[in-house]
Amino acid sequence: MSAIAFATPRVARTDTPFARDVVAGLSARGKHISSTWLYDDRGSKLFEDITRLDEYYLTRAEIALLERHAPEVGALAGPRATVVEFGSGSSRKTPLLLAGLDRPGLYVPVDIAAQFMVESAHALKRTFPRLLVQPAIGDLRTLTSLPLPPLDWPWDPDTGPGRRIGFFPGSTIGNFAPEDAAVLLARLGRILGPGALLWLGLDGTQDPGRLLPAYDDREGVTAQFNLNLLSRINAELGGDFEPETFKHEARWDTHDRCVEMHLVSRCAQTVEVLGRSFWFAAGESIHTESSYKVGALRVQAIARIAGWSTLRVFSDEHSGFNAYLLQRDVTET
Ligand SMILES: C[S@@+](CC[C@H](N)C(=O)[O-])C[C@H]1O[C@@H](n2cnc3c(N)ncnc32)[C@H](O)[C@@H]1O
Repeated sequence: MSAIAFATPRVARTDTPFARDVVAGLSARGKHISSTWLYDDRGSKLFEDITRLDEYYLTRAEIALLERHAPEVGALAGPRATVVEFGSGSSRKTPLLLAGLDRPGLYVPVDIAAQFMVESAHALKRTFPRLLVQPAIGDLRTLTSLPLPPLDWPWDPDTGPGRRIGFFPGSTIGNFAPEDAAVLLARLGRILGPGALLWLGLDGTQDPGRLLPAYDDREGVTAQFNLNLLSRINAELGGDFEPETFKHEARWDTHDRCVEMHLVSRCAQTVEVLGRSFWFAAGESIHTESSYKVGALRVQAIARIAGWSTLRVFSDEHSGFNAYLLQRDVTET
């Protein structure tokens, strides 16, 4: 008896958050797609390449701040802390924080780019074999809970899990407009619970001469990162974008103090995604990322509204990059 193999045609799913966001964003008057979707596996790797570019000062600045101030965080946190990292990506900065902590107990990386996060978490586990590592795939835009050990307040690290520390580096919160950042911070506070600490890295640089090269580098790595979104749509949503007919552009919005990334159509064209047609005029763009640049006073005000007190502000002397050590109010629920 001969076996007959049937090839199953790959049908793009229309009911995923990615599909819904792309269709809604391409249907809007000002076309836009959330920067969340820039991070598939290739996008995550390209972002890592960006962090090593001369122009991308943000990662170097935050690494220097962590090297200098992680022991201070450790002294406040006490032993056996639980570290929850939001938008963990490669977890490249995590060892710097962990090195300042006294016998950290549990590390929970949270990211939407599942494969890249899990591989990075495994690599971290090899460096810290005694650390319990429990990755959680999640979307920061909607996340409301995480499987964390029960929180006793006041905590007693001799008998239960240690203090919870949120770790939110990389200026990822800058991808949220300030009012949405306040809502996000309040939600993260509810997830972490009363008394939690939070390391928040956020760039406040306001100089477009410094910012624009950081988001549009000479080697074109950021352009590849941005254009990869079109290849992702082709692969996952049956799109027929021709990426070479779009160009990457970084713009500084003086009013909102925000660097925007766009994909600009080089010509008038129609593109199919999930069986639907989307018309582009020549020069029309898809807005793919906003990076709000927020200074220290405003960040502290936003944190306050969201139920966090600022314990420390750590500032990089070479740029406007700051890291904030926040504490969740004990009375907040
Ligand atoms: C700017 S990178 C920062 C990576 C790393 N934390 C650092 O400091 O270099 C943003 C990270 O957040 C993740 N991310 C972006 N949007 C997300 C979302 N909505 N939910 C969860 N993770 C998200 C990306 O996959 C990526 O790993």
